[in-house]
Amino acid sequence: MTTNDLAGIARAMVASGRGILAADESTSTIEKRFKGIGAGCTEELRRAYRDMLFSTRGLGEYVSGVILYDETLRQKSADGTPFAALLAQNGILPGIKVDAGAKDMASCPGEKITEGLDGLAKRCAEYVTLGAKFAKWRAVITIGSAGVDNARAVPSSACITANAHALARYAAICQAAGLVPIVEPEVLMDGDHSIDRCEEVGAWALRETFAALTSQRVVLEHMVLKPSMVISGKDCAKQAGIQEVAVRTLQTLKRTVPAAVPGIAFLSGGQGDELATAHLDAMNRIGGAPWALSFSYGRALQQPALKAWKGSAANVAVAQRALHHRARMNGLATLGQYRAELEKELGRAA
Ligand code: 13P
Repeated sequence: MTTNDLAGIARAMVASGRGILAADESTSTIEKRFKGIGAGCTEELRRAYRDMLFSTRGLGEYVSGVILYDETLRQKSADGTPFAALLAQNGILPGIKVDAGAKDMASCPGEKITEGLDGLAKRCAEYVTLGAKFAKWRAVITIGSAGVDNARAVPSSACITANAHALARYAAICQAAGLVPIVEPEVLMDGDHSIDRCEEVGAWALRETFAALTSQRVVLEHMVLKPSMVISGKDCAKQAGIQEVAVRTLQTLKRTVPAAVPGIAFLSGGQGDELATAHLDAMNRIGGAPWALSFSYGRALQQPALKAWKGSAANVAVAQRALHHRARMNGLATLGQYRAELEKELGRAA
């Protein structure tokens, strides 16, 4: 595969049985995660944590690609191997987060616009020389509270269209530079909205995103979509079950995502790790989708490993086992075989 085989890279990212590990937390986000385990946040500790994740033996069986943060792409494993090379040695494609974060959006209170287009072509060219094969840009869509009078004002059409436009410009720039863009319009699960409202907003964001991608001449075969699932708001009194989330998510994607897109790799968005796996598994058991359905999880893959690691080299082996387990479970979920494996394990334990 050459650097410029974008169709091949996109297909490899969502190959059957595998998915993506999102390990591209910015320094401020990883600091928050480290605080949660009582660890500090030095550059060396960030390097050691990523080293633990990436040197997990056998990870490449279930993980096709890892999204890195700028600092991490420039760091090395303990033996001096650059992380991008270490991943490549294990059959894992290195990727890079290229957005500059979601910032408060002018004239749209409570909403965000993702920045980072200025100078992007130049940054992409450098990332290619550092070994990156794909990129990520995350747009954030907020759903207004159902308890507030003007809840339907959020999201605004200003926010949806501006974020769709930025995603499409980013995707076009990446493809021109030789990187496969992961296009991520995330509808946040924060709030008390119903699953109906999530479906309505999710479909709207996806329709606008694909209209913008088409208008910016993005090649759909050379990208991966990273959407949120259609799910009840975190604080909604009525929580939809696993099957309903799977059915509604598939229905929304079928209505909005062209079949030319090779794959869809979901974000976990704050769902519990086992629930995120169960949702993906349920979608793949329904089957019949025109695209591969995979994962690009951050927290849902890392949380158990992070908790086991606790910032200490003494815990590396147990943390790696935790990451390997979640990666294997999600790999099974891409094949619709996770529930069956769980039942087998329960049978063995009984
Ligand atoms: P989560 O799976 O934790 O939502 O992270 C995925 C991601 O990369 C968000 O941009």
